[in-house]
Amino acid sequence: MPEAAISTTGLRKTYRDGQVVAVDGLDLEVRTGEIFGLLGPNGAGKTTTIGMLTTSVVPTGGSARIGGVDVIGEPAVAKQLIGVVPQFNTLDRALDVGENLYFHGRYFGMSRAEARTARDEALQRFNLADRATMPVMALSGGMAQRLMVARATLHRPAVLFLDEPTSGLDPQSRLALWDVVRGLQADGQTVLLTTHYMEEADQLCDRVAIMDNGRIVALDTPAGLKRSVADGTVVRVHVADDGLGGTTDERLARAGAALHQRLPDAGTPSVIDNAVQLTMNGEGILPRVMGAAEDAGLTVTDLSAAEPTLETVFIALTGRRLREGPPQGPPPGMGKPR
Ligand SMILES: Nc1ncnc2c1ncn2[C@@H]1O[C@H](COP(=O)(O)OP(=O)(O)OP(=O)(O)O)[C@@H](O)[C@H]1O
Ligand SMILES: [Mg+2]
Repeated sequence: MPEAAISTTGLRKTYRDGQVVAVDGLDLEVRTGEIFGLLGPNGAGKTTTIGMLTTSVVPTGGSARIGGVDVIGEPAVAKQLIGVVPQFNTLDRALDVGENLYFHGRYFGMSRAEARTARDEALQRFNLADRATMPVMALSGGMAQRLMVARATLHRPAVLFLDEPTSGLDPQSRLALWDVVRGLQADGQTVLLTTHYMEEADQLCDRVAIMDNGRIVALDTPAGLKRSVADGTVVRVHVADDGLGGTTDERLARAGAALHQRLPDAGTPSVIDNAVQLTMNGEGILPRVMGAAEDAGLTVTDLSAAEPTLETVFIALTGRRLREGPPQGPPPGMGKPR
């Protein structure tokens, strides 16, 4: 088996004398050639993890290796092995598009001729050749992001780090950037990216680690993660107050038990995010649930059935949504998979 592209043991970062735990003992192995995703909500510790792996944040504890090189012990060597696209635009506004690439090459020890060649190849490859002499301020968000990726890969790093590569991009630019990343992988590039878009993790990544509060709460292929929470269709049932008292969760647990009694082939119900959630298989799922609810004397106020998503996985593991939803009540459009 080839050496892991990234491996960490107990990697940890705290701030304010340990009061803020940003990353809490991360054990991670990223394989050579894979696109690996860190998926998590704001504040999960994604950027801090990338910071530690790319030598810009000094860990409080643990160890990290990139291609076998100790990131903490040999930061200068590790730096040659990594390319980074940070969460925010860090292009040099005093330089034009081509110069941003050229000087990056020079900074990484290329001769003038090598840097010129690498610049021209990157301009071609990332479809920026006709913008070479433009100021970077004149680029669209999607083009600026492409230039950041072009710059980060110019020195042929072993691992490319992308921190929220498509946040703020329009859908079309997002898809275009996914294609760029897939193209890099096809040429053997190992990629670690962070995202809070479940679709991005699902469609782009070979494996995904779901992060919350500085910890990995689940790690698998997107399909494996989804299978782990629900082997079938996820049905969510919102019901009106039955007038029997108790907390909302108790009321929903009662409703779940009543439904399950009448739907014996459904999975064990759970109460998640103010709704009863059941996993079901087969035909006519919604009519079957409506029939069972009617039989149990429950008033259904909203009902949805969807294939599990990474959002379902996150909710099942944490009881919360990836992105904060409305504070109370069933969010509108509950029926649509998000
Ligand atoms: N320099 C710092 N000083 C104090 N706390 C920090 C610092 N940097 C990060 N944190 C805290 O560490 C936690 C993790 O932050 P981090 O930026 O890694 O999260 P993230 O997953 O990248 O979030 P986002 O999706 O918002 O980018 C947060 O609680 C954050 O407030
Ligand atoms: Mg971040």
